Formats: sequence, C-alpha cells, structure tokens
Amino acid sequence: MSNKFTSPALTFEIVGKCSTTRARASILSLPHGPVQLPIFQPVATQASLKGLTPAQLAQTGCNLCLNNTYHLGLKPGQKTLDAIGGAHKLQGWKGNILTDSGGFQMVSLLELATVTEDGVRFLSPHDGSPMLLTPEHSISLQNSIGSDIMMQLDDVIATTSPDHARIEEAMYRSIRWLDRCIAAHKKPESQNLFCIIQGGLDLRLRETCTREMVKRNTPGIAIGGLSGGEAKDAYCQTCTGLLPDAKPRYVMGVGYPEDLVVSVALGADMFDCVWPTRTARFGNAITSDGVLNLRSARFSSDFSPIDTLCKCLCCRSIEDNDGLGVTKALVHSIANKETAGAHLLSIHNVHYLLNLMHQVRQAIVQDEYPHFLKRYFKQIY
Ligand code: GUN
Ligand code: ZN
Repeated sequence: MSNKFTSPALTFEIVGKCSTTRARASILSLPHGPVQLPIFQPVATQASLKGLTPAQLAQTGCNLCLNNTYHLGLKPGQKTLDAIGGAHKLQGWKGNILTDSGGFQMVSLLELATVTEDGVRFLSPHDGSPMLLTPEHSISLQNSIGSDIMMQLDDVIATTSPDHARIEEAMYRSIRWLDRCIAAHKKPESQNLFCIIQGGLDLRLRETCTREMVKRNTPGIAIGGLSGGEAKDAYCQTCTGLLPDAKPRYVMGVGYPEDLVVSVALGADMFDCVWPTRTARFGNAITSDGVLNLRSARFSSDFSPIDTLCKCLCCRSIEDNDGLGVTKALVHSIANKETAGAHLLSIHNVHYLLNLMHQVRQAIVQDEYPHFLKRYFKQIY
C-alpha cells in the first residue's frame, strides 16, 4: 500500500504511525522545501514574527510559518505584493508560507465586521471606508502573496455561541465559499488551497461538513472553529475519523503544549497559534516545567537559563559563553521595560514548541508515543 499522496504543488508521505493512538509522522513537501510533520507553525502576522528576524526564525529550524491575508492585503497591499513578487520576497523568507484567508482575523479583530453570503463586510481600519472581503478577493490576494498553502475563506462562529441556526448557516456557507474559492484559484499548480471544516460543537454538523469538503478533494484539510479552548478531543476524534488518511490535517489556532500533544494523538499533523509570541510579551516562558512568569520577583537572582533542557539561542548562550548569557534574572530585569525581553522570550518560546513537535515526531517514528505522552504529562503536572 502506498502511503504517499501527490498533487500538483505538494506531496504528503506518512513515514511512521503509532500503533495505539492515531498519531502519524510524515513529510509534507511544498514548493519551498520539505516540512516534517507534526509541526507547530509560528505566526508572522505582518510578514514578520513579532520579536524574531527571518534569520532568527530560520535558526529555530522552522521552514513553514504563517502570514495573514487580511494584514498583508491592507499593508503593503496587493499592488506592492504584485510589484515585489509576493510575501517570500517581501520578508526575505526562503521557507514555506501558509496564509490564513482573512475572515477569521476580521471578525475577531474588528467589532463592526459582519458576514453576508457575499463575504465579510468591514470598515477599513485606515480610513473607516466600507470594504468587503469575498472568497474571490481573498484567493486573489493569496495568489498575489504566493503562499505555499492558502486557506479558504470560511464563516467562523465562536463555539460558545448559543445560536445553533447561525452555526449551521455558517457551516453550509463555508462549503459554498469553498466552491467559490476553488473556482477563483488561479495557481493550483504552484499553490495549495486547503478547506476548513466548521460546524461548532455539533458533531452531526461537523460530519456533514467533513463529508462535503472531503468530496471537493483539496490537497489538505483544516479543522476550524476550535481556538476557543473548549473540549477538543470529542470532535477532533470524530472529524479525524472521517478524514482521508493520506492528506495533511491542520488544526487551526491551537498552540498550548498540552493541546498539541493530545491533538497529535488524535491524528492531527499541523498547528498554529499566536500564543507563544504573545505570551512572551507578558514575560511568560514556556518550559519543560510548565509556563513561568519571569516578571515574578522569585526570578530576580535566578542565574540559570530560561529552560535548562532547551537548545535555543538564548538558553544555549550560557553554555557557549562560559556561563555568560541569557539567564532568568536577565529576562526578569528587562521584562517590564524592554522589547529585548520579549524578543528573547519569543525566540525561546517558538523554539520550545518547534522542539516539542520534533520530539513528538521522533517518539511516533520509534512507536513510543503513548510512553512519551505519559512522561510529558508527568513532568508538567
Ligand atoms: N484560526 C483559528 N481558527 C480558525 C478558523 O476556524 N478559521 C480560520 N480561517 N482561521 C482560524
Ligand atoms: Zn530556550
């Protein structure tokens, strides 16, 4: 049996499977190089990861990061993107880029965004003029961005919404919008368009959506609407159960370490979240002992690295420089007043999650994932 799926702009090959959970290890080959899955994708909202240069990002071993169509469409805008030849050139990034389609960002960032069958209506944050993001416009922008993976425009409703009729409407609308996105996509030979399964917490809606979207045969499949932090397992399990084995599966907006390792066990391959860089700006370090707030006074004279087990630029600097480098005490002393503190923690946090997924992958390949999970949760709690 061949475990390899090939489509014009990607190949996906499963190289290891856990015998007791649904976890898989795979290689996703994209136009800008191969990516080892499972992976955490850091979010570079405005063509730059908050707190990291592209070179620093590359040094973490990352070769797939996320950009947002909404932000790039506003600035630098489509004209500039076309003139420079896309977002890779704009940010000097040789790795792969995945772009989210924009609707989700608008609805979560702008109070006045409203959704109709046409698309997402909103007021320009620049001059307040009315604008409309349609599936066609989102795809056109993503074609100009040149992302290796583009996401469909979807209608996302908070899973906590009590309005069941609206959740159902959004699910069916997301299917219709997928069809419009597929029709509008001008570069299927060089850019991959992924669908996004919606349906709130209603398993029946999720199943209907999954069946319909799987029929459309996109090269990859995303599970959306889950970033609210609610019970993920139940419907991840149901949804991944209906998904074809041979395609990459991307759970959007999920990035807490515990959620990552559990979702991998349920069969997910790709994740993204702004949390590691956002929480860095609040002085938080993600470590093998859990999340530490380095603003706390107890770190004022702690001269150990942020995480003794970590090999990121910051944590390694102490070993590499005869004991002189980035300590918890240093980050503590600048965490409140200097952006440098947030930069150091961003480098560390992104590295931490990338490395966590690297270890996850190794455990799957060696068929030791259940053991890895047990050890992981024992250490965290
Ligand atoms: N980011 C986190 N969740 C979602 C989602 O459901 N849809 C989109 N487009 N982006 C997301
Ligand atoms: Zn580190």
